[in-house]
Amino acid sequence: MLELQNLSVHYDKVEAVRGVSLHVGQGQTVCLIGANGAGKSSILRSICGLQKPSGGQIHYQGLRIDGKTPQHIVKLGIVQVPEGRRLFKLMTVRENLGLGAYLQPRAQIQQDMEAVFERFPILREKQHQAAGKLSGGQQQMVAIGRALMARPKLLLLDEPSLGLSPKLMDEIAELIGQLKASGLAILLIEQNAHMALALADYGYVLAVGQCVLQDTGSELKQNPEVARAYLGGA
Ligand SMILES: Nc1ncnc2c1ncn2[C@@H]1O[C@H](COP(=O)(O)OP(=O)(O)O)[C@@H](O)[C@H]1O
Ligand SMILES: [Mg+2]
Repeated sequence: MLELQNLSVHYDKVEAVRGVSLHVGQGQTVCLIGANGAGKSSILRSICGLQKPSGGQIHYQGLRIDGKTPQHIVKLGIVQVPEGRRLFKLMTVRENLGLGAYLQPRAQIQQDMEAVFERFPILREKQHQAAGKLSGGQQQMVAIGRALMARPKLLLLDEPSLGLSPKLMDEIAELIGQLKASGLAILLIEQNAHMALALADYGYVLAVGQCVLQDTGSELKQNPEVARAYLGGA
């Protein structure tokens, strides 16, 4: 479904991503783990058309998409939940959700919002409140709900567990599991390797811009190197 070949990203002369190749199959959940600054978000922004790669190619359903506009890429069904959620905190929950549907036909919006409220009943209750007033976990639900409003086929999640308590992390993990079960393809970016590897069919480990390991989620979890570097001890 998504294929990155030898992707590189530069910021001026600084190389943030070097020759990364990655594959997400139909309905698969794939994770990309790595420390802060490893280049995870740079990869995600390249897929979304928000960052121009300095080398390599990105294909989606057989179509080359690097060089296409972010709007075009959203229309193709690739939708991101950005790092830090990026909600409009003074706007209501409902308004934030509506923003996700800006490329969708008007007639469909009400129905899709209803589906989001069914998935996240708490958001129905709070739909008229300012998004900034919600808890961190609820804000992450709004960010995910907003992405769902764009009717994704491939969902890109950039550190959804960041800043959440362990309990809320569990809730988000459960939610990602439900999205996966619904057949959505997911690329999950995480520093929280525990959560990511538990959910992922396949994973890639990124270190200083390069892919240093790749394997099934369960194999990576048992890999002593991964355990030492990303799971807090072997
Ligand atoms: N807009 C930018 N301008 C310059 N350097 C950047 C920019 N964004 C990221 N970087 C640098 O690129 C590297 C990778 O960053 P990033 O992709 O955000 O990593 P991660 O998401 O894994 O934390 C880091 O060294 C970071 O400082
Ligand atoms: Mg990042």
